[in-house]
Amino acid sequence: MKRDFLHITDFETNEINEILDLAIEIKTKLKNKENYKPFQNHSLAMVFAKPSARTRVSFETGFFRLGGHALYLGPNDIGIGKREAVKDIGRVLSGYNDMIMARLFEHKHMLELAKYSSVPVINGLTDFNHPCQIMADILTIYEKRGNLDNLKIAYVGDGNNIVHSWLNLATRLSFHFTCICPEGYEPDEDLLNLVNNSKISTAEISHDPIKGVLEADVIYTDVWASMGQKEEAKEREEIFKNFQVNANMINSTGKETLFMHCLPAERGREVTDKVIESSNSIVFDQAENRMHAQNAIMVKISQGL
Ligand code: CP
Ligand code: NVA
Repeated sequence: MKRDFLHITDFETNEINEILDLAIEIKTKLKNKENYKPFQNHSLAMVFAKPSARTRVSFETGFFRLGGHALYLGPNDIGIGKREAVKDIGRVLSGYNDMIMARLFEHKHMLELAKYSSVPVINGLTDFNHPCQIMADILTIYEKRGNLDNLKIAYVGDGNNIVHSWLNLATRLSFHFTCICPEGYEPDEDLLNLVNNSKISTAEISHDPIKGVLEADVIYTDVWASMGQKEEAKEREEIFKNFQVNANMINSTGKETLFMHCLPAERGREVTDKVIESSNSIVFDQAENRMHAQNAIMVKISQGL
């Protein structure tokens, strides 16, 4: 049975911990330029229906450094779901490649791609979630703190795909998660309930950016208008204006707080330049860890876990 990586909840807690351990191991091997090539004679097809810097470069470089070859198929190459049916692309790409990574708009297309592909499929973001990002994020927090004990994460901004993957992770690893957002921009309620019923983590919604971040170990934000929502950017700027992460917010948590952002950031909107450039900011460690977390995910699923 092939294993796909479409949601963090496709994996059990022990499997997630194994992936994180392996990520640290592979990161060390790559830093030491060890000859570790599990993907020799393998190829990875990367399908992008949306733009990308980190996802494209981290997958392409990561797969290459593990001995394989990765192909970039951009928004104009395939026309997935438009020029050609998703279920046809799944079978065609499976005939040439050992693995598929895709960044798509509709989540149901990701599920369909995985269903019709005979090789493992990795979700590189949909409108619904971004599981690889949050695996890299938790790896980064673990590296910075040395543990995940009593972790309190305050996410400030839109209850979007990033939040959905944080909520998924919260049903596997233990932490407290607050989503601080304007009314009407909350994440999926079912996912929130799953966390609170899991007895593993706790999650809550707050509409108060001052109270919401109290005692946070991490303040995390993302763009106010995601890819596919850019025509709403102007309207959202007004709605989200009190939810900007600035020095005042970082200093009001009552403890030493790390700043995280999946990037790309719109400096001066959801976060100030000063915060991104501050010593609290770990955004570039986070970006680097995309490659290490994904390398571990790819190695694990290629072994069927
Ligand atoms: N964080 C992230 O996924 O970045 P890209 O959109 O540049 O891939
Ligand atoms: N929420 C953002 C994340 C980008 C990595 C988007 O979907 O555009």
